[in-house]
Amino acid sequence: MANMIRDDDGVSNASTNDHLHDLIEREIARNPSRRSMLKSGASLGLLGIFGSALSACGGGDAAPAPGTIGFKAISTSSGDAIVVPEGYTADVMYRWGDPILANAPAFKGDASETWVEQEQQAGDNHDGINFFPYPGTDGNSRGILAMNHEYINPEYIHNAANFNKPEVPDNTKKQLAAHGVSVIEVQRNSAGKWEYVKNSPYNRRITGYTPITISGPAAGNDLLKTSADASGKEVLGTLNNCGAGQTPWGTYITCEENFNGYFGTDAPGWTANTLQNRYGVSAAGFGYGWHKGDPRFDLNVNPNEPNRHGWVVEIDPYAPSSKPKKRTALGRFKHENAECVLSKTNKAVVYTGCDERNEYLYKFVSTGTYDPANKASGTDLLDSGTLYVARFDAGTVTGDNQGTGVWLPLVHGQNGLTAENGFANQAEVLIKARQAADRVGATMMDRPEWVAANRTKAGEVFLACTNNNRRGSTPASSNMVNGSTTAGSARPAMDEANPRAVNNWGHIIRINETGADAAATAFNWDIFVIAGNPALEGAKKGSSNIDASNTFNSPDGIQVDPEGRLWIQTDGSYANTGDFLNQGNNQMLVADIATKKITRFLVGPAGCEVTGVCWTPDGRTMFINIQHPGEVGSHPNAPAAYVAAASNAKDAWVNANPTAFSKWPDGPNGGRPRSATVVIRKNDGGVIGT
Ligand code: FEO
Ligand code: CA
Ligand code: CA
Repeated sequence: MANMIRDDDGVSNASTNDHLHDLIEREIARNPSRRSMLKSGASLGLLGIFGSALSACGGGDAAPAPGTIGFKAISTSSGDAIVVPEGYTADVMYRWGDPILANAPAFKGDASETWVEQEQQAGDNHDGINFFPYPGTDGNSRGILAMNHEYINPEYIHNAANFNKPEVPDNTKKQLAAHGVSVIEVQRNSAGKWEYVKNSPYNRRITGYTPITISGPAAGNDLLKTSADASGKEVLGTLNNCGAGQTPWGTYITCEENFNGYFGTDAPGWTANTLQNRYGVSAAGFGYGWHKGDPRFDLNVNPNEPNRHGWVVEIDPYAPSSKPKKRTALGRFKHENAECVLSKTNKAVVYTGCDERNEYLYKFVSTGTYDPANKASGTDLLDSGTLYVARFDAGTVTGDNQGTGVWLPLVHGQNGLTAENGFANQAEVLIKARQAADRVGATMMDRPEWVAANRTKAGEVFLACTNNNRRGSTPASSNMVNGSTTAGSARPAMDEANPRAVNNWGHIIRINETGADAAATAFNWDIFVIAGNPALEGAKKGSSNIDASNTFNSPDGIQVDPEGRLWIQTDGSYANTGDFLNQGNNQMLVADIATKKITRFLVGPAGCEVTGVCWTPDGRTMFINIQHPGEVGSHPNAPAAYVAAASNAKDAWVNANPTAFSKWPDGPNGGRPRSATVVIRKNDGGVIGT
């Protein structure tokens, strides 16, 4: 979700600043076999599952080693365009409003589409994305993309006649139609450019009102029953689909994040109960006003409807008529993404963070195992298992491991998760996962965003902690808005895993599971990077692998590519001043995991967030999403008339001037900015990043 950061000044403790030399020595201490390659300056990653393609690499005679970062870093910018390094091409492929079904109209540009038209077009605010190879092909030139449409931009989605009128049911329904998921077939054409295939049998829109099965231990619980669904086993829609993941059996797992903001009520005297409070459900919501147009979202009419959201949803992109399932065994909270790997014994392990200030990192481990030779063995594997939450402990180990940690089980009857403490059964533990995590003593984190598994090194995952200004004893001077509420109003002290009191820039933590087994119940961890700004002083500078060439704030989307590079996408301030001086628009960088060296790869257009990344299996095509270009937020070049407008008239001003903040991707005649999927290729056909 968009993340607007206002001025925020506070007291920060000095961070532990590593020097690159120390980092390399530390890496060698941890893995002596890397000495020669690290000392020689080569950053050879472990051979990935596609490493055998090395000999076929394009790009000249001397093929780069897997994991090599070979492009020339780009500078920051505050323009209204995508910038990629020399030798790379970025093509816009799939924009909000692009038609995918047989009768879908082309995007009109004036936002006059009806909800019926919108549900046949691409949704808004593209986010998590995964690539599924086309059956029966090599999968590198044809596939199926599944991607999230996280939310809508109220100022852009309607024309003037329907702007700010949620009480008109069709307007609320259009907003619901722009949410959810797209499944689209994509292919590379004869000119080498990727395009989506209109009216492919795989194409599908899942929206905020698509019927979805509620599955797993919480299905049928009384807290999930409503007047429309006495079974508690079927819900309409998936909402605020943020990050995502892909299972080894070829399904898409999409994450419901800030679902709470869609609910509200105008009923006099309504107050939130304990459960609603803990999940930030309030009468005002985020101001969407859907309860005015659809009583499903009225808290006074349907108090349990919010309990049916906040889950991970599994979708089979290869089966267009299959019904999605909300997997309650993975817990209910503000899921960012869901990173799925197999344990040593082939249990499914899903890492998923809860993105709000001072919330937690979770991990699910399945009871059953997956047989890679039998895709069907993955069916409903996510319905039974153990949900854990992470506690990060202080450093006691040497080398690269700053600290240890444990995965605390959220199991009814254990660690105080009992009926007398408000958890009647396992279903309630899962529905009230945040409270369960509070009780077992999990570590409050600086807004857990994406988790990324390094599939070239078993048991290694990374966690992006995007930012947090609610830590430490000194109150922040102003608020940091994450589209969320302040339900977790506690202000924890700094700790080793969250080392700054006012963390406006974020950091990335690396976890290595005990025994290199994703199912382990203990781990070691270290801080991979503390983002910051070299133009500032002290802890604000960040760790020593941050310098003027790679300064950034608010890491959010992260993924490790098939060869073992860590890609970092940002969703932070683009004010380009103050704490964020010289950082420009939101961007994407890539880190060499062995050396921790970080290099800027891409800068997005004005007001956007860069989020969601996936690859073809050969790593030679990268798909990313550009979300909310033209967001007003901290835009450094806001028009004077907008600045002069009254605060309650600003959205209307943007609605009347929809190209004032960004004209991307369609230019001055495009009507309005549009979130879009962008395809990145290396001009010589090589692996992205080399
Ligand atoms: Fe939807 Fe936390 O980003
Ligand atoms: Ca995000
Ligand atoms: Ca974010």
